[in-house]
Amino acid sequence: MSFFSYICKLNVQKNDFIIMGVTKHIKKLFKSSTNAKDKILVTGGLGYIGSHTVVELIEAGYEICIVDNLSNSNIDVLKGIEKITGVKPIYENIDCTDYVAMNKFLAKNEGIRAVIHFAASKAVGESVEKPLMYYRNNVVSLINILELMPIHKIEGIVFSSSCTVYGQPEVLPVTESAPLQKALSPYGNTKQICEDIVRDTVAANPSVKSILLRYFNPIGAHPSALIGELPNGVPNNLLPFIAQTAAGVRKKLKVFGNDYNTPDGSCIRDYINVVDLAKAHIAAMRRILGGEVEAVETYNVGTGRGLSVLEILNAFETVNDVKVPHEIVGRRAGDIEQVWADPTYANKMLKWKAEETLEDTVRSIWKWQLHLAEQEEDKETTKGSKMLSGS
Ligand code: NAD
Ligand code: WQD
Repeated sequence: MSFFSYICKLNVQKNDFIIMGVTKHIKKLFKSSTNAKDKILVTGGLGYIGSHTVVELIEAGYEICIVDNLSNSNIDVLKGIEKITGVKPIYENIDCTDYVAMNKFLAKNEGIRAVIHFAASKAVGESVEKPLMYYRNNVVSLINILELMPIHKIEGIVFSSSCTVYGQPEVLPVTESAPLQKALSPYGNTKQICEDIVRDTVAANPSVKSILLRYFNPIGAHPSALIGELPNGVPNNLLPFIAQTAAGVRKKLKVFGNDYNTPDGSCIRDYINVVDLAKAHIAAMRRILGGEVEAVETYNVGTGRGLSVLEILNAFETVNDVKVPHEIVGRRAGDIEQVWADPTYANKMLKWKAEETLEDTVRSIWKWQLHLAEQEEDKETTKGSKMLSGS
């Protein structure tokens, strides 16, 4: 007889209020304990943030199933995850907008307790050109997952939201209760819409719990340099552009504006190390599976420290002892002047805090850039020798 049923039996036999109280307590304790082998679905798990989160989840003892349609990632990422963790997670190339395929996958991999939903398209500029593609991909994917959750008894969902929902906040650092502003792009709008869809769904179906994580600016790579950010074409984001410029792939970094109302005139952001960000998902998962989430909780995931473009550029050059040719140009349309997080609520409730130093973070970016360059060289050498051998 298990300890739990023994207590239950005592409860029935003695009908004793004290024991009933103890039982209730023990039940609560059981409910709030998470099993180290809990099975988690990670959508978009081969992407930038997803892959780092999968590594942390595996290292925390979870069993992982990944779906990713490789629209913005590479199957080699799976090898990187395996090299770091020694575990090859279950993976299938599935598009989350495909309800039938998702349903089949969940039926095949029964027992999934929660999902971390990263899969989405994320390029702001592209979303302005192809709004319907963004609405379809980001919104339909989420709706499918929310519809499938009760069918497959999935208890919780962690959703990737963004600080973009705040626009330019009036008060800094920004807290979760700051008013949301009209999105400046269809991409940003999908995040606001998706947050609402999650809230409405949980309100109608209290068996589903959710945590919305509003990421600030994720940067950096795993310290092993076996996984990192894989920008597609010319990077839009600052750090991949800095790294590629330092490596000579790009000629010059354009610093978009030095006439903002900030100490050095360049824009300010809250740059968070991707491994710290990944760990916030473990904390969120523990909270959901531990039965601590009543309905929907929303957290800022940032460091609480704002850094200007020029400060981060300077840190990258100094720490890595490299030069990044750059010039100051005009402002980029749609840029927010300054935003950084107040992460107090996440620090308290998730018992999580960003810990990586800026130095280690910019070091990891350079190490990852050098790893990518090596890979490119290897590919070229293999291509060359194949041509020589005529194979
Ligand atoms: P990413 O593009 O590197 O990863 C997304 C992954 O999802 C990719 O591997 C892609 O192939 C996959 N994917 C996209 N659509 C899919 C679909 N329909 N079905 C299956 N797989 C699909 O992006 P990321 O930077 O890792 O971002 C992850 C999440 O975090 C996204 O939801 C993004 O909007 C959000 N976010 C990112 C940032 C950031 O700056 N990187 C900031 C805030 C929020
Ligand atoms: C950071 C700073 C630029 C490139 C974007 C999305 C946002 C979120 C995170 C997902 C800005 C400056 C940049 C360059 C530069 N993603 N910059 N030269 O704009 O804060 O946010 O990514 O949700 O939705 O909009 O990030 O990395 O593009 O820019 O001077 O070549 O670097 O002006 O001040 P951003 P970013």
